Amino acid sequence: MSCKGKARETFGSRFAVIMAMAGSAIGLGNIWRFPYVVGEYGGAAFILVYVLCTFLLALPIFLSESIIGRRSGSNTFGAMEKLAPGTSWKWMGLLTVISPVVILSYYSVVGGWSVEYLFKSLAFEFTNTPADNVPRLFGTFITSSWEPLFMLGLFLMMVAGIVLAGVKSGIERFSKITMPVLFLLIVVMLVYSVTLPGSSEGVAYLLKPDFSKLSASAVAAAMGQAFFSLSLGVGTILTYSSYVRKDENLLVSGVGTGISDLLFALLAGFAVMPAVFACGVEPGAGPGLVFQTLPFIFNKMGAGAPLVSSLVAIVFFVTILVAALTSAISMMEVGVAYLVENRGFSRLTAVASIFCFALVVGALCSLSFGTLSDVKIFGNTIFDALDKLCSNFLMTFGGLLFTLFVGWKMKKADVEDELTNGGSLHHKSVFRVVYFLIRYVAPIAIIAIFITNLFL
Ligand code: TRP
Repeated sequence: MSCKGKARETFGSRFAVIMAMAGSAIGLGNIWRFPYVVGEYGGAAFILVYVLCTFLLALPIFLSESIIGRRSGSNTFGAMEKLAPGTSWKWMGLLTVISPVVILSYYSVVGGWSVEYLFKSLAFEFTNTPADNVPRLFGTFITSSWEPLFMLGLFLMMVAGIVLAGVKSGIERFSKITMPVLFLLIVVMLVYSVTLPGSSEGVAYLLKPDFSKLSASAVAAAMGQAFFSLSLGVGTILTYSSYVRKDENLLVSGVGTGISDLLFALLAGFAVMPAVFACGVEPGAGPGLVFQTLPFIFNKMGAGAPLVSSLVAIVFFVTILVAALTSAISMMEVGVAYLVENRGFSRLTAVASIFCFALVVGALCSLSFGTLSDVKIFGNTIFDALDKLCSNFLMTFGGLLFTLFVGWKMKKADVEDELTNGGSLHHKSVFRVVYFLIRYVAPIAIIAIFITNLFL
């Protein structure tokens, strides 16, 4: 199944490109992080800053990756070799092959949890367990040794299966079917959530503009969130863009992906927070919100209507699982493209190698919640250490290098050629704005986030 000598695969249509990229972008970041961060940093005021960050900072980085990817028609390592042969830029290409595979390892641990929770909801466990014990199910599960490992393996097998099927019949087909369904499911949950008695406080939590909370750290949080949510800085967008046809408008697919991601984050916020407030529980971020608070809520709602509540739980965990899957396949594809194109692996051996790597590293991350919880790297468990390394360092660093490469290393004429498809698209003046954002605004903003995070 080697791609060598064969024409490289491409996505079939603009819809396919946006669905695949939105699939990568829309993930746990939208569901378990966004709603909380919004409430924490001033509601509507923060949303405003977040929208600005998405379009003024994240989009230029997104477009930088798109330009490098499609121009080179190559994976991240090959792209640097092609566009800047014989320079040390190739090391940055290699770095961005490694970081998504590391992210895949710990992201899949959480992917595995969502498989387990889907099973739990199918078994009506949240409605059949006494309310106070429901949040405890999570601790019992993640600290046990074998079950989370088994679920991690199951999740990674699904990811590997889709990636193995190829760009068109695997990634494109899966994203085209699941992404619209995902939007539908989140809207169903939103309607259910905002019609619960007492939900209006949750709506207020997200919407009440509190400009006093807009500190430097709020702005840094908005940038960080936009970064993670659009899968930037580690070459996933670069790799997907290398499968985009030459006649596609990169600006349009970028803006389309940005809007989808933003829209989904907002829908997720209004699906989750009103329900949280309707049950009178404290909103929190991360695993606690999705795997403790929400099952507790399903239990409470189940008191009156166990069947409806269980159905909502099933819909919710299917949504989480699918969102995590489409993100994880984008991470795996980065490494697979590199191994196939630069190391001569067949697609099967490439997928198998990354599967094994992610399984081993993921297993260590998973065990760091239980058996290995005493193993600390700079004071963090293995899972937290890898997450911090990637989110705070590798992603921002990668994003900075991508924008510097396009803004300062590539010839301006080449960048313009790629973004305007040889001058045939009508955005010459738009190009000037985008180029300015890539060359100055994005790198300076990234350095500012870096420094802010260092001191906060
Ligand atoms: N954007 C995804 C989310 O919101 C996560 C993700 C996918 C990602 N690919 C990535 C994050 C690459 C960083 C880098 O959950």
